[in-house]
Amino acid sequence: MGRRHVARALAPERIVRLDEDAVVILDQRRLPEEVVELRLASVGELAEAIHALAIRGAPAIGVAAAYGLALAAEREEDLEAAFDVLASTRPTAVNLRWALEEMRGDPTRDHALAIHRAEVERCRRMASHAAGLLGAGSRVYTHCNTGGLATGGYGTALGAIRTAWERGLVEQVWVGETRPLLQGARLTAWELEQLGIPFAIVADGAAAALMAEGEVDCVLTGADRIAANGDTANKIGTYGLALAARHHGLPFYVVAPTSTLDPSALSGADIPIEERAPAEVSRRFPARNPAFDVTPAELIEAIVTEEGFHRPPYAVSLPTTVHA
Ligand code: MRU
Repeated sequence: MGRRHVARALAPERIVRLDEDAVVILDQRRLPEEVVELRLASVGELAEAIHALAIRGAPAIGVAAAYGLALAAEREEDLEAAFDVLASTRPTAVNLRWALEEMRGDPTRDHALAIHRAEVERCRRMASHAAGLLGAGSRVYTHCNTGGLATGGYGTALGAIRTAWERGLVEQVWVGETRPLLQGARLTAWELEQLGIPFAIVADGAAAALMAEGEVDCVLTGADRIAANGDTANKIGTYGLALAARHHGLPFYVVAPTSTLDPSALSGADIPIEERAPAEVSRRFPARNPAFDVTPAELIEAIVTEEGFHRPPYAVSLPTTVHA
């Protein structure tokens, strides 16, 4: 085992919080150049910010929406309307709807804060489990951004990498840049730099070649929605990574909280895939912009939640009840 390290990260309330009169987020569109907060004084402004990816990542948008609903409740606004506006911002990440449903019975700021704290705690627990998958000197490939920014604190796959690094197990992190909006090259790189973890950004198209060169030991990603059979929706490009990992005999792991499970989706075919504006891909030429893809369960070595490891067959091993 290598030398143990201590990582320093952003406090959860810097990523998203509820002030007296506004939901306040770190504007992720401006990272890494500028670290600036955005005050969202209404549900409409918050919905716009979620849609525009000023805050993004499945658990983080759930937490932000919970704070938004609490704000609407304090102002005695129409909560069903607020629910619908927030839920419709991003269709694939099930955590968004999950957090809003959680808030239905008790739409208070204390409850929203409890949801936020619980998500961070889930991250720490799943990171501790998932770090156990890595051996000494691991070279880990990851995609998109799954750190504190994506979860409201600590992170899923990136949280696991952080815990493994603190245990002295990580030699190198390969960060796929994650076209078209560069969550890897902008956000994961920024977080890894803050944490002091060694990394290098690679073009998404370089992943298979790196694996062929023997420079990758495993792939860790997060998830936006996991169906009952283990099929997993995550940022576009994840499916290709899983195929490349399988071809090279490398384990592909998904790290996600139980709030990302959707037992009502029987398979990936039941998961709605967000299509975003073509202009995010090309401003000049025709383009398609599916934001997520579905990795079939058979390509996934294990799914790690805060409850531990889930191995195939996932229809048997995944929890069917999702905890608050
Ligand atoms: O479009 P984004 O940036 O919200 O997509 C985020 C991802 O795909 C993450 O991998 C996912 O939310 C899991 S990480 C907590």
